[in-house]
Amino acid sequence: MAASPMAPTDHPRVLDGRAAVVTGASRGIGRAIAEELADCGALLCVTARDPHGVREAVAALRARGAEAVGVPGSVADPAHLWEVTERAMAEFGRVDIVVNNAATNQPYGPLMDADPDAWRTAFTVNVEAPLRLVQCAWRAWMSEHGGAVVNVCTEGAGHVGPNVGAYGTSKAALLHLTAQLAGEMGPLVRVNSVSPGLVRTEMARFVWERAEESVAAGLPAGRIGEPEDVARAVRWLVSDEASWITGAELLVDGGTRVRAASAGGASNDAVHQQLRHHLPGS
Ligand SMILES: NC(=O)c1ccc[n+]([C@@H]2O[C@H](COP(=O)([O-])OP(=O)(O)OC[C@H]3O[C@@H](n4cnc5c(N)ncnc54)[C@H](OP(=O)(O)O)[C@@H]3O)[C@@H](O)[C@H]2O)c1
Repeated sequence: MAASPMAPTDHPRVLDGRAAVVTGASRGIGRAIAEELADCGALLCVTARDPHGVREAVAALRARGAEAVGVPGSVADPAHLWEVTERAMAEFGRVDIVVNNAATNQPYGPLMDADPDAWRTAFTVNVEAPLRLVQCAWRAWMSEHGGAVVNVCTEGAGHVGPNVGAYGTSKAALLHLTAQLAGEMGPLVRVNSVSPGLVRTEMARFVWERAEESVAAGLPAGRIGEPEDVARAVRWLVSDEASWITGAELLVDGGTRVRAASAGGASNDAVHQQLRHHLPGS
């Protein structure tokens, strides 16, 4: 039987009064993280490019009883990252938690065909932006008061796959950045990453929509991930329960890395078949 996607959570108010910035929080994993942190008492500042999506996410957070503000913009724009930090400081007077979740899986395709400018964009969004935002939070609050950072990486950064060279390379760099920052920012600030496997979101729709059953059958957990699976892991990592954990990569992947030994006996072919033959958004 597949592990339940909806493990019960009583939402202890372990983050009461702490302020969190979550990037890319209008849908998918970022939205679930923002809601999970809010349900545990955090004050939320959320971002995404589409202003409508940001407004909608803020309204949903407030409907859950949370204090929340939103700042539309791209994490690729350094001015936006300062604006986000300043807004959180103006509204809440603190920035205890940063979750670098926004990312791009473009450019898609073989690296020999990659446009180096598009390749650079993947690094701007997936690596440079997380560093810049953490610098902002450090200068505004964390260097004196401490805090916790979580970078959303990917299980896929641990190996190679068809057409995802820019994404995988930039996420591998984000993993290294996580470890380096953890070393530099302690003891005041803890920095960790979560690495999801295949999760039911828009970004990965082109994979799971066609192959959910075969991917799930090959996973020890017996199902693909839901955004809430990742959100609960992030909530734990930023809470005091994880106070002796920094520089860690937490796989939230339903057993993807160990699936070769599972009863389903699958390789990673079910995912790679989709990556090979279909494009994001197709
Ligand atoms: N889904 C998976 O299977 C999976 C697996 C491994 C890792 N991940 C990672 O999980 C994270 C979240 O992905 P997801 O699957 O939840 O994706 P998603 O459903 O496509 O959501 C992405 C979110 O980020 C925002 N966003 C995208 N580009 C942005 C930018 N340049 N600046 C600011 N916001 C931006 C989007 O809103 P706008 O479009 O309005 O900007 C949206 O709110 C990413 O880091 C991804 O790499 C996902």
